[in-house]
Parts: sequence; C-alpha cells; structure tokens
Amino acid sequence: MSSLFNNYARRPVHLVKGKGTVVEDENGKQYLDFTSGIAVVSLGHAHPAIVKAIQLQSEKLWHVSNLFESPEQEKLAATLTKDTHFSHSFFCNSGAEANEAAIKLARKHTSKSTIITFSQSFHGRTFGAMAATGQDKIKQGFGPMLATFKTVPFNDPEALEAAIDNDVAAIMLEVIQGEGGIHAVTPEFASVITDICKSKGILCIVDEVQTGIGRTGTRYAYEQTGLQPDIMTLAKGLGGGFPIGAMLGTADLFDSFGPGSHGTTFGGNPLAVAVAKTVVDHVFEEEFLKEVSSKSEALSQKLKKTLPSDKFDIRGEGLLIGIDCKEDVTPYVRQAEEAGLLVVQAGTDVIRLLPPLTVTEQEIDQAVDILTSILLSPITI
Ligand SMILES: Cc1ncc(COP(=O)(O)O)c(C=O)c1O
Repeated sequence: MSSLFNNYARRPVHLVKGKGTVVEDENGKQYLDFTSGIAVVSLGHAHPAIVKAIQLQSEKLWHVSNLFESPEQEKLAATLTKDTHFSHSFFCNSGAEANEAAIKLARKHTSKSTIITFSQSFHGRTFGAMAATGQDKIKQGFGPMLATFKTVPFNDPEALEAAIDNDVAAIMLEVIQGEGGIHAVTPEFASVITDICKSKGILCIVDEVQTGIGRTGTRYAYEQTGLQPDIMTLAKGLGGGFPIGAMLGTADLFDSFGPGSHGTTFGGNPLAVAVAKTVVDHVFEEEFLKEVSSKSEALSQKLKKTLPSDKFDIRGEGLLIGIDCKEDVTPYVRQAEEAGLLVVQAGTDVIRLLPPLTVTEQEIDQAVDILTSILLSPITI
C-alpha cells in the first residue's frame, strides 16, 4: 500500500530523467512528453540555460524573506509587465495562490464581494480558487462553498448580463479553458466582458496560469482577445519546472495591496525568480514566439488533415491543442503512453496536447503519427 494519500490517479510510470521533449522511465523506456508536466516545462526538460541559472543562484542565495527589498524580483516584474498595461507584480508559489491573491485584491479594491466565474472553468484547489471553479466534481464533499462566487455559462452574454448586480467586484475567466476541455473565450464574449467591466467599474481578472508565458504564441493569451484585464495570474510555464506563481495588476490597484495586506514566506524565492527570469527572457523573444505559432500551425494542420472532422474536433491556440473525440479518451491516453507518447485529458472527451514550447517539428510528426494511428484504429487496451 502506498504511503501517499490517494488524491491522484497516478499512472505506474516512474520517470527518472528528461531532456528537451523526451523523458525516460526507470527501465530506460523513452516517451515524448506532450504534457510538459501539464504546461509547466516550457523550455523542455533540463534546458541548459535553466540548469545554469539554478546552479549559479544556488551558490549565492537560496532564500531571503520578503522583509527585504529584492532587486531580482523587481527585474522579473519589470520583464513581465514591459509593454503591457500592467505595472505591478506579486510573486507566490502556484496558480491557486496567484488566484487567491487576485480574489483578495479585487475584493479589497472594490469593497465588493461577488466574483463571477464560468462553467467548466478551473482555478485551483485552495478554498477560494475551488469556490471560483465552475465544476461541481472539484467541489464535491467540501461544502459549503464560499457564497460570493457566481458561476455563469461561458460565452453566454445574456447570462453574464443577468448576473451583474451592485455587489460584483470582478469577472474572472480563463482565456482558453484548459482543464475544462480547451474552450476559448469568443471575441464577442470578450468584448461584452470588456464593456461591462468598463461601464460598471467591475474588475476583469484573467487566469493565465495555463495559457500564459508564450503557450498560445503570444506572451499572454489575452493579447489575442481584446480583453483588457485589470489583474492577470500566472504560474505553470513561468517557472519552467520550478514552482512560482505571479499576480500582475494595473497601477490603479497599487494602493489596495499595502504592507500587511497579503504575503507568503516562499513567494519570489531567489531560486524560483532566477529560473523564471531565464524562462521569460527566452520565451519573450519575438522569434521564439513566432516559432511557437508556426509549430502550432503544423501540429493542428497535421491533425486536421488526418482526423475526420465529423468525428474529431481540433481546438486551441499555440501549443495548447485539444482533440475532442466525443467519447471518453482514457483508453486512448493509455494507448499513447504504451506507444511512448504522454498526453493528458481535458475533461472526459478531450486529449490535450501541451508539448514544451521548444518541441521540434520532427517530434510533432512523431506524436501525430502515434496519435492518429491510435485514434483511427480500434481500441486494444
Ligand atoms: C487555469 C488554471 N488556473 C489555476 C490552476 C491551479 O494551479 P496550481 O495547480 O499551480 O495551483 C490551474 C492548474 O491546472 C489552471 O489550469
């Protein structure tokens, strides 16, 4: 019997090392990692620049508390907010923590309590983030939830308008719902959100924990939508495998997060910040982002060419691609693993492809070959 709690349905695969897109198990079997640790290992496994950054920092300083000024956090914050309308950052350790900070900031700034979120959304497992999440299965057994989250159908302007009252502090959304099945906000809905927020003084929070840091081919996914978020949350790909989260906000919000209002012991840890700075310096290069888009195009075109559109719906942006198979994909995910390709489910029916942003065209071809041969032949597991 395992000494661990049973809260994950873990696969019996013991991964011991990785390089680029390839990971290896204890028996020497290699896999193409098209999960990248669920959108985390943005520069691939053991990227030399990250290895060097962590080695150098580990010889200088591992931890310093947020009682002291941090020039390194300042530099990372400046890089994240450069050429955006955001002006300030707060660093923490995970996506859920970044969302907790966003929820607190929105409530404190507006002195209102309702946060509107959307069906099928996912914002994390802590109490506020769980209450924000629009999926009942995530909340089962943990009730009662915090009362001031309202879940509204996604991409439904009328339902959103009907949910607005004088107590709404913020509208919070994922630009592309990742865990919920790869559903993007429509341009029309983005513009309705922007109009409502502007006219009613409601804050817009985008949760870019999964979509941020180049995943969709731009630095942040909201840049492709017309949304004008007041607050954005990041984690996953920001640390390239080292835990870090961030909340970015506009200048208007600065005074609402004064000394003592929020904090964390480990947030903005020097090792995490050194790695994150290395990640963003690579990913935010124009050429790098262009390559993400062209690789995305290659991946989705190849899938669309091979998989019949009446059976499979290919969705997503950048290197966050979903194949909606319109049936439970668990057996396909297992078969892919057998064949040396790691993929992850989004909801029940969608295979989610999230390779490292450094994936090569050749690896994309290999992955597409494995997937299409599985999806186009009868199930054998
Ligand atoms: C959109 C989104 N928000 C928040 C989270 C929670 O992040 P973490 O697991 O780092 O707390 C996730 C994790 O999958 C996510 O996809």
